[in-house]
Amino acid sequence: ISLKPYNTFGLDVKAAHFCSVTTEDELRAALLSDHPRKFILGGGSNMLLTKDLDALVIHIGLRGIEILENNKENALVRVAAGENWHDFVLWAIGHDLGGVENLSLIPGNTGTAPVQNIGAYGVELKDVFHSCDVMHRETGKKETFSLEQCKFGYRDSVFKTTLKDQYVITSVVLKLSRPGYHKLNTGYGAIKGELQARNIQSPGIADISRAVIAIRQSKLPDPAKLGNSGSFFKNPVVGEMLFKELQESYPEIPHYPAGQGQVKIPAGWLIEQSGLKGFRKKDAGIHKNQALVLVNHGKATGKELLELAEMVQEKVFNKFGISIRPEVNIF
Ligand code: EPU
Repeated sequence: ISLKPYNTFGLDVKAAHFCSVTTEDELRAALLSDHPRKFILGGGSNMLLTKDLDALVIHIGLRGIEILENNKENALVRVAAGENWHDFVLWAIGHDLGGVENLSLIPGNTGTAPVQNIGAYGVELKDVFHSCDVMHRETGKKETFSLEQCKFGYRDSVFKTTLKDQYVITSVVLKLSRPGYHKLNTGYGAIKGELQARNIQSPGIADISRAVIAIRQSKLPDPAKLGNSGSFFKNPVVGEMLFKELQESYPEIPHYPAGQGQVKIPAGWLIEQSGLKGFRKKDAGIHKNQALVLVNHGKATGKELLELAEMVQEKVFNKFGISIRPEVNIF
């Protein structure tokens, strides 16, 4: 079958075998089946498929949102892996539960959110994460991972490093805050601006969510209209020495402290300065409003997008001496 509807780049890649599992028993059966190669598919929002998959593609269709515990200050909520992330954010706002409003409109499913520790506008998943349930891919055994065990970092977790491809996340438990006990995160400049423009003095979680949605819609393409995978690269972290040199040539260079003599530089800025914003070769392009996002204008192939990504890396390296690394998983 074609995986076109299952990846947000909209790439027409074929899977030799496909199944969608809606219960843990079905997932276990699929994992333990004798297909030699298995490929786990969540929301398909963070991957670039460069060729047909000679594998059993297991689509995670586990659904359900459940409040496990409710006290004065917090609620523990279990969200099944197949729940669309943004639909869950709207559910939380509808239930007056704070913590994920800054993460509005991030594409993808909840089960893959911990893998890369999704983050935006000053908040990362790890800030509200309690634990996740996982199933071992070889044995089908269930385990629970705590916050510490997940070893979250910037767009990073144990599921991308030491335990890569070993587990399937089946559900995520988040610790959300009840009204009166939630500290809003409005520090991000664009959010402040958006709230001011709307003349909102004392925002609530729904206001933050609406502001974030407006900001994202103004910069980031809607995958339903223009295939993309959000930020294609991670923002690079460089040493202070190199940063100081760059700052002499480019006094306006945006930057954020990244701990211990390290500075994070927006890759989108580096790409734009390399003259690539809006660049297009055939149907593989760089988004006109946010240079960190690669887009499929229609009939691009995964290979063409990969070639474009490599060209971007090379141009940025030649101009700045900085290597930028993909955030998206490439298959
Ligand atoms: N910039 C440019 N040109 C561009 C893009 C950005 O000069 O084409 C500059 C902006 O002017 C700004 C700075 O770069 O000074 C940062 O831009 P922005 O606020 O858009 O954020 P970002 O660093 O490019 C990161 C995340 C996004 C997240 C936003 C907001 C990564 C890899 N990306 O992007 O996450 O939404 O911050 O918090 O960290 C994603 O992961 O898919 C994603 C979209």
